[in-house]
Amino acid sequence: SLIPVILAGGKGERFWPLSRKHKPKQFLSLDGSGKSLLQATANRLSQLTGDAQKLWVVTSAQLADIVREQLPHLPPENILAEPEGKDTAPALAWSTLEIAKKYGEDAIVGFFPADHWIANPEAFQQTIEAAAELAATKNAIVTLGIAPDYPSTGYGYIEQGEATDTFGGLAVYKVTRFTEKPDRETAEAFLATGKFSWNSGMFIFRAGVVLAELKTHAPEIINPLQENGVAAYSQLSKKSIDYALMEKTQLAYVLPAAFGWDDLGDWNALERLLKGDAANVELANHVGMDTKGAILYSSDENEVIVTIGLEDVVVVRDGNATLIVKKDRTQEIKQVIKTLQDDP
Ligand code: GDD
Ligand code: MG
Repeated sequence: SLIPVILAGGKGERFWPLSRKHKPKQFLSLDGSGKSLLQATANRLSQLTGDAQKLWVVTSAQLADIVREQLPHLPPENILAEPEGKDTAPALAWSTLEIAKKYGEDAIVGFFPADHWIANPEAFQQTIEAAAELAATKNAIVTLGIAPDYPSTGYGYIEQGEATDTFGGLAVYKVTRFTEKPDRETAEAFLATGKFSWNSGMFIFRAGVVLAELKTHAPEIINPLQENGVAAYSQLSKKSIDYALMEKTQLAYVLPAAFGWDDLGDWNALERLLKGDAANVELANHVGMDTKGAILYSSDENEVIVTIGLEDVVVVRDGNATLIVKKDRTQEIKQVIKTLQDDP
């Protein structure tokens, strides 16, 4: 059965100022549910395996304490703390090595980002079970494909080849090409063919399959980790698994995912989730005049935000920081906060 690992070491910079270095977005409840994204992800995965103890989390050392706090039932040895964030390729390689040590190379491992929203948990469960079955049967690195609805440059794109099998009633396709974060023009060309889906960022495989593929395609990552374990981190460069492995492997398969998915990447995601028919998304005590298409957030309920004559803006108040940005420029928050002096 599947061993789930949550990838939870990201910085969540595009959700500043709510998301801060010492408490990035995966530890926050962005939808007002009271549960953090990490906790929601852990719940979904515990339902899948029926065992909350079986879950692993890989994160940075400075975030390990919040993980322990938020997931108190997790055995401490299931929290893998990276000395520094080197993006997802080292995180996935090291976790897979540790799991293979404990459960053997035939263990079925699934990686799940901590920043996803999923509409239908039952359909999610069914899809992951099919993916795990496929990974048990074949030398496969299974991805989940999301039907794309615009030429996003923030996702990986998967080209769907021949149908190969059916698992749990779901058709499985060979991946003929994987392209991480293409430019706009390429993304548009991909969409026009009708053959591409977005990569969901979840990966399911047999531990030994990915360890062997990393040996072939990313020896500079897997060899030092195999020799020196986590001590190798200082000599690794930053690289995501999408570039390090998915663009290169011939063993990728895709299961079309139909469970309602969103990547909570920046403030605009809240609009997709919460807006309904209202003129604004209001997670604040807001008084507006001639204001529409605004996303408003305040962490202090005693505070009031007043807006007049505004359209398509994001206004966020949190502690010592205020963010005001046009909705179509939230990707640039990353750049700006790099220039701030103190820990933003
Ligand atoms: N442990 C650890 N260490 N986790 C990390 C690190 C790290 O250094 N860097 C990022 N993560 C975690 C993040 O917290 C997140 O849960 C997950 O890994 C994915 O990282 P992102 O930085 O959010 O990736 P992305 O959204 O740009 O791209 C990935 O996801 C897309 C779908 O959301 C790619 O896989 C794309 O191909 C995919 O379309
Ligand atoms: Mg992401």
